[in-house]
Amino acid sequence: MPIAGTSKPHPEIGLGLWNLGRWTHDDELREEATVAHALEAGVRWLDTAEVYGAGRSERILGGVLARDPGLATESFVVSKVSWEHLRPAQIRAAIQGTLERLDRPSVDLYLVHAPDDRVPIADTMGVFAELAESGKIGAIGVSNFDVPRLAAAQAALAPRRIAVDQIRYNLIDREEGDELREHCARTGVAIEAYTPLAHGLLTGRFLGSGSMPAANRRGSRRLDGEHAAATMGQVRALAGIARKAGVPLASVALHWLRRQGALPLFGASRPEQVDANLLAWGTPVPDEVLDAADAVTRPNHD
Ligand SMILES: NC(=O)c1ccc[n+]([C@@H]2O[C@H](COP(=O)([O-])OP(=O)(O)OC[C@H]3O[C@@H](n4cnc5c(N)ncnc54)[C@H](OP(=O)(O)O)[C@@H]3O)[C@@H](O)[C@H]2O)c1
Repeated sequence: MPIAGTSKPHPEIGLGLWNLGRWTHDDELREEATVAHALEAGVRWLDTAEVYGAGRSERILGGVLARDPGLATESFVVSKVSWEHLRPAQIRAAIQGTLERLDRPSVDLYLVHAPDDRVPIADTMGVFAELAESGKIGAIGVSNFDVPRLAAAQAALAPRRIAVDQIRYNLIDREEGDELREHCARTGVAIEAYTPLAHGLLTGRFLGSGSMPAANRRGSRRLDGEHAAATMGQVRALAGIARKAGVPLASVALHWLRRQGALPLFGASRPEQVDANLLAWGTPVPDEVLDAADAVTRPNHD
């Protein structure tokens, strides 16, 4: 889809390079194979950040892309400046490190990873505009920004435009996205949905055991403590809807996001997961099935 600030279209589905376990040598080899496989399978949107593995994620992506200059040019590469580096001199140093590790002259989209209210957003956006002017970054975006922060960033960046807000958004953890949807549609900001499969929960893989291992929960509030049992109940209901419709649960999760106007950015720690997720994306889901899934998790405000 077209986004503000670049002539390169934003791919509809992407792979994130965050999930590298403990970043052991074996983890890194597995991730390299996963990214290479995703590129072969046609994935073109690749998401990384300076904080992922303290730069190792960017380095792995750069290494894989360096093997095929054609693919490197075709790819839509996204990186992020850490929330701890939002002052002007820090951003200039951060993008330099990112481009060196990725081994490319520019990224297609550069995001503020998360807000830091102690740093004036106008200072941060001023440097982002300068980087776009110099061609080091294509489009400009933010991540984990709520409506007031997004509106403030948009005002500070004008006349340039914020192209993207990358947020956690999935069928069971949907408040933030539901809140941002209308503002983003009205102001032409694309929503990138991270954690679209709720760390694997929305593939159905934990239904057999009835609970999710702590390592997979990764701090998601819907998956922990008091919410965990209710969430499992919702996932069981969603799985029932998917089964009855004859489609994978992951198809329901990914196509529900598409219908909400969001672009799913999934994670995968092995090539087979990439294949399963692309198959899920390629499986159409009728609107009435998505309506039924939506009703399972829609908050009741009455
Ligand atoms: N901007 C931000 O603050 C922010 C925050 C979080 C994430 N992100 C980005 O979004 C990307 C995706 O986030 P995420 O990893 O939370 O997304 P996710 O797609 O919800 O979860 C990915 C995990 O789910 C499991 N999984 C995926 N496909 C599977 C399949 N077909 N079958 C079984 N299990 C499967 C794997 O867990 P195992 O590895 O345990 O097998 C995988 O690591 C990240 O890589 C990162 O680029 C951004």
